[in-house]
Amino acid sequence: MSRYWSAVVHGLTPYVPGEQPKLPNLVKLNTNENPYGPSPRALEAMRGEVGENLRLYPDPAADRLRQAVAEFYGVTPQQVFVGNGSDEVLAHTFQALLKHDKPLLFPDISYSFYPVYCGLYGIEYQTVALNDTFEIRIADYLRPNGGIIFPNPNAPTGIALPLSEIERLLDSSRDSVVVVDEAYVDFGAESAVALVDRHPQLLVIHTLSKSRSLAGLRVGYAIGHPDLIEALNRVKDSFNSYPLDRCAIAGAAAAIEDRAYFESTCARVVATRARLVKEIEALGLEVLPSAANFVFARHAQREGAELTARLRERSIIVRHFRNPARIAPFMRITIGTDEQCDALLHALAEILRS
Ligand SMILES: Cc1ncc(COP(=O)(O)O)c(C=O)c1O
Repeated sequence: MSRYWSAVVHGLTPYVPGEQPKLPNLVKLNTNENPYGPSPRALEAMRGEVGENLRLYPDPAADRLRQAVAEFYGVTPQQVFVGNGSDEVLAHTFQALLKHDKPLLFPDISYSFYPVYCGLYGIEYQTVALNDTFEIRIADYLRPNGGIIFPNPNAPTGIALPLSEIERLLDSSRDSVVVVDEAYVDFGAESAVALVDRHPQLLVIHTLSKSRSLAGLRVGYAIGHPDLIEALNRVKDSFNSYPLDRCAIAGAAAAIEDRAYFESTCARVVATRARLVKEIEALGLEVLPSAANFVFARHAQREGAELTARLRERSIIVRHFRNPARIAPFMRITIGTDEQCDALLHALAEILRS
């Protein structure tokens, strides 16, 4: 608290990111990073940028990257916006497209940054409860709104909505923007990018932090109608014209172009997830059906907070959310390498025996 703070700052409740502990030999399964390194082609492209040219500003429109994204999805570069992590793309989206007279709608159990952006930009919102099996029910969103946003697959549940349900929502909700946050879509859900040409109110947001193993680079993008993209550019150019540096533009473009590497690392994560789910269930936990690079699991008798703390004593870090109370029994476990998952299973078995 300080008298020098603006009124806005006094009123903020900032997002708390998952911790990045600096302890050695950690099994770090708490922030949904990819256990495999970035594409070697991305690393080479970034090394190629380190030199004399760094004295020059990067391309403010990041044309090379937008072109790579457009080619990957079969859209035009005018349908693509890029930013410093999908968090920045989301922030601009909230300000540019989701602040209206009616409330923004999002699930009660969802990415906890959404209410934070609402606080920052003064956006009125209503949360919509997931059903008893922790699924988004599209029917609950068919009411007056100033916009709709949800992750697909949802976080932290990992449960995906089929594309047909998203299309049903788009068909009945044409007057406000619908944002599908596809941070985890590449691990098993269907992308709504296929729908952007038919639905001018749809914006799909992606990150390179998960399926492209580049959380440290901070790159995200949005795909939608050029009018929506223009709104994002207007906010971006009123905030920071150069959100992506030269290394990020080159590295991200190369990562998108390296489709074979992307597909093989996603397949490895998906295979490990299938094995992990089976073995966690064999230990007596319930696991929600996950299409993401994490699972959400609970034990009928043991508290999520307790299990998380006991794993931590064994240098295994998973994520626990206290709120809302309905998810307090769960742990969110990122899919690591097979070795990391074995370490988790071993520790969990020991804890459950004690
Ligand atoms: C649902 C969801 N959206 C967006 C993000 C932000 O990703 P980034 O800012 O690393 O691109 C995350 C990060 O964990 C997430 O879980």
